[in-house]
Amino acid sequence: MTTPPATGELSAAFDATIAADQRIEPRDWMPDGYRRTLVRQIAQHAHSEIIGMQPEGNWLTRAPSLRRKAILLAKVQDEAGHGLYLYSAAETLGADRADLTAKLIDGAQKYSSIFNYPSLTFADVGVIGWLVDGAAICNQVPLCRSSFGPYARAMIRVCKEESFHQRQGYELLMTMMGGTVEQRDMVQDAVDRWWWPALMMFGPPDDASPNTEQSMRWRIKRHTNDELRQRFVDMSIPQAQALGVTVPDPELAWNDERGHYDFGTPDWHEFATVIAGNGPCNTERIAVRRAAHEDGAWVREAAAAFARREGASR
Ligand code: 3HC
Repeated sequence: MTTPPATGELSAAFDATIAADQRIEPRDWMPDGYRRTLVRQIAQHAHSEIIGMQPEGNWLTRAPSLRRKAILLAKVQDEAGHGLYLYSAAETLGADRADLTAKLIDGAQKYSSIFNYPSLTFADVGVIGWLVDGAAICNQVPLCRSSFGPYARAMIRVCKEESFHQRQGYELLMTMMGGTVEQRDMVQDAVDRWWWPALMMFGPPDDASPNTEQSMRWRIKRHTNDELRQRFVDMSIPQAQALGVTVPDPELAWNDERGHYDFGTPDWHEFATVIAGNGPCNTERIAVRRAAHEDGAWVREAAAAFARREGASR
């Protein structure tokens, strides 16, 4: 879908709506670039939710208790729902869900770098909840004020569920940290492996981000990548201290003058390698997604046939 050519009045109305910090709705005129940026970001966000089910889903059959299994099942199911809200938001912009899925599987669209790392022990389930969903909360709460109405409203529901995701992860880790030496070592090992990839979730540094400036002007993004990364570090370090773990950053130090933690530089070469499709689990993640899509083709065909028959009988 593309927008009819701008008339001065329509363009002025769009600019006035953004300037007044109001919402743009699907029926409103919008610049093609605004639409393209939203489809790109919302599709990537939706893909991330769906692919993000894999690292934790990997532990569903091996959860250490029925309670842990039930909690993990609820969380993984939530992520599927988040993906569906977001694909629906993308569809209000004229995107086609089948086309977006094909673009994900063919590598034409991205998903979050974080989900290309392996979940090696059950402590990873806790650290993913604590750090990955914690980073997602830092990133998604401001998106509740994004200028595009359907995206902002989807985020309000998502953020309520993310709070449960982060808390269940942190509670899991608190339990393990009260356990054996082996369990405590398992938690520290997971923190060591997930800390830097969690910082990379916020995207490249602001001076290497081609989209941030325009997305901020359009109020799609409300904070820059570096601002949200800093917010995440400031939030997570006291939580790490309460948990009794350290983060693998020798440069981490509280800076009284700034009122923030100073921290080291993520490995941006690793980040670029992972988002180019060459991370530890990229091939596996896409293969699983492709297989699920192909195995589910008969369900989609049956639902479509049923809908056609229902439509014909009316
Ligand atoms: N993983 C993969 N690609 C990334 C990335 C990441 N972590 N961070 C940035 N990129 C890509 C961007 O997509 C862009 O590439 P493109 O132009 O080809 O799409 C390029 O790197 C440059 O990055 P920019 O900062 O210029 O791009 P954005 O302005 O889009 O900012 C973003 C990146 C901050 C991730 C932004 O897209 C965003 O806020 N997205 C919505 C939130 C989101 O997608 N979160 C992902 C995790 S969802 C999740 O965690 C689920 C939870 O339940 C666990």
